[in-house]
Amino acid sequence: MVSELDSRATGRAVGIVGAGSIGVAFALVFARAGWRVHLQDPDAGRRALVTGEIGARADALRSFDLVDEANEVLLERVVVHERLEDAVKSVELVIECAPERVELKRELFARLDALAPKDALLASASSAIPVSSYASELVGRERCLVAHPGNPPYLIPVIELVPAEFTAAEVVLRAKEVFASVRMRPVTVRKEIEGFIFNRLQGAVLREAYCLVRDGVASVEDIDLVMRDGVGLRWSVIGPFETVDLNTRGGIASHAEKMGPAYARMGAARGQYDPWTPELVEHVDSVRRTLLPLDQWESRVNWRDEQLMRLLQDRIKAEDAGEE
Ligand SMILES: NC(=O)c1ccc[n+]([C@@H]2O[C@H](COP(=O)([O-])OP(=O)(O)OC[C@H]3O[C@@H](n4cnc5c(N)ncnc54)[C@H](O)[C@@H]3O)[C@@H](O)[C@H]2O)c1
Repeated sequence: MVSELDSRATGRAVGIVGAGSIGVAFALVFARAGWRVHLQDPDAGRRALVTGEIGARADALRSFDLVDEANEVLLERVVVHERLEDAVKSVELVIECAPERVELKRELFARLDALAPKDALLASASSAIPVSSYASELVGRERCLVAHPGNPPYLIPVIELVPAEFTAAEVVLRAKEVFASVRMRPVTVRKEIEGFIFNRLQGAVLREAYCLVRDGVASVEDIDLVMRDGVGLRWSVIGPFETVDLNTRGGIASHAEKMGPAYARMGAARGQYDPWTPELVEHVDSVRRTLLPLDQWESRVNWRDEQLMRLLQDRIKAEDAGEE
């Protein structure tokens, strides 16, 4: 029953399997958006802690105006269960957030396929294991996919939807709608690939960072500093393609012409030969020019600078308040 306090209730329900870091964070994401949340964990110790954890995280978010409802309203929407069947019997979406072990995910997905309503989406928060390695034998495999969040999902909005070849296209569309409705930013990974997009990008940077430390080029602290106060500052506003597009007059095609050979040499020195071929650059450039015609380049550069100024202003305020 929806109480008078619960004006944002959507009438929609999610089952979350596993109440660890990610499960609890997803519970908050969905409760904040007015969903009924059925959170399940076999560990009685975890079940005893989750309500307090959701409340404490909501308090922290509220102090930055990222949650407006009271904890009693949010927590009224969350039901904690011991048994899987109770958590998934009347939901439109299940998110499995159990430990990253393929046998466990295989066992859980078989049970979920039997226990959840036939039209419910079955998603796994898996960081790296593709859904094809544990759901391919299921009768309901068409409704299974990975929905990989950043940690914690109430602060990192992007979520990677990774269907297997057997996942129905309509399931991916529904998953997109669901996650967008709870203020997340779904991105579809078109092919199953280890690390998806998020960890492949992170991995490329980390591989180089380790090499630079190994070769004595820079200290650990300085590499973090170059990222925090340099490359990453821009990347928190725009991505790597838009960064170089805005850094070079003439846009990304001009950047590739000027800088492509140097980047190719850096890759080759690391044993990686993945040249930016003319066709590849032409494709990326044509997408960028559709997103940003060159006659709007100057105003977008100004917009980027404004975003950086906002960030710097916030950092200075935080430093002044002794928060860093
Ligand atoms: N932590 C991250 O940074 C992160 C980010 C994205 C995705 N993930 C993925 O999310 C999933 C969960 O990760 P986490 O960090 O929350 O792990 P965690 O260890 O914090 O939580 C896992 C929870 O699952 C419970 N559990 C164990 N067996 C279970 C079962 N049979 N049924 C239901 N629950 C069970 C545990 O009691 C525990 O509370 C993993 O697949 C992980 O790879 C993690």
